[in-house]
Amino acid sequence: MADLDGVKEAKNFHAGVPQQSDGFFLKGSNSLDWGMKNRLARIFNPKSGNTVMLAVDHGYFQGPTTGLERIDLDILPLVPYADTLMLTRGILRSVVPPSMTLPIVIRASGGSSILKELSNEEIAVAIDDSIRMNVSAMAVQVFIGGEYEKQSIHNMTRLIDQGIRAGIPTLAVTAVGKDMARDARYFRLATRICAELGAHYVKTYYIEDGFETVTSCCPVPIVIAGGKKIPEFDALTMAYNAIQKGANGVDMGRNIFQSESPKAMIQAVGAVVHNNETPEKAFQMYNDLKNQG
Ligand code: R5P
Repeated sequence: MADLDGVKEAKNFHAGVPQQSDGFFLKGSNSLDWGMKNRLARIFNPKSGNTVMLAVDHGYFQGPTTGLERIDLDILPLVPYADTLMLTRGILRSVVPPSMTLPIVIRASGGSSILKELSNEEIAVAIDDSIRMNVSAMAVQVFIGGEYEKQSIHNMTRLIDQGIRAGIPTLAVTAVGKDMARDARYFRLATRICAELGAHYVKTYYIEDGFETVTSCCPVPIVIAGGKKIPEFDALTMAYNAIQKGANGVDMGRNIFQSESPKAMIQAVGAVVHNNETPEKAFQMYNDLKNQG
């Protein structure tokens, strides 16, 4: 208890200086609770409003993906350049040192493999374990139009309900089935359903035609997945176009960890996402960093 002897009289009241009451920087997030906002502010950089999420959760349905065979050796060195790491709890506990302070987005759904119907997922991490791991958000796959559409939506809404009680945001990851058109109409439908049902932010794919309509009618932030590996310049161009058309960042995996120089690539992606660097300049940066080894 504070010493009660010799208490100084309080005098710095700054009367006449109104207390600031700013809105929260992130789209659609102003009415969230303090803990939710604080976690989102760890994922999204408050200065740029954007995020570079490094996605390395692919093993949850496809095993040791190319580039992720040894996460300890090949992914941990990238941590200083990411805003957050998206991964499974198995990898978190077995490979990632708890002294690492980078915010974690935990893969919280699962239950199917590439050998079976992918949309047949369940919630795969209990909320108390997410709390125990001190995660900043929970990610759940949502299969709009998929065989187990309703089940995957209910996974999301249950996770959102649990997360709200704990102050942990939910990231809805829209998964596109093999036979579905990857167009603006589909992505507007998928992302809007996730946001309407309470997702705090949504991950989707970038498309050339009409992506700005997807971001503009989704009331919460959108981040894009990188998708399959493409040339570095093309991936940087995709990230640039997505940001210019309203995305709040990337949740990128293969185009970083399958790059010829993952360390150079993640820094170039960061320049695009946080500094609005053009694809040309970012690609130059990538080459310079790659050549420096
Ligand atoms: C699916 O496996 C995961 O949600 C990935 O995190 C997501 O697809 C992003 O990774 P990539 O950029 O490799 O598509």
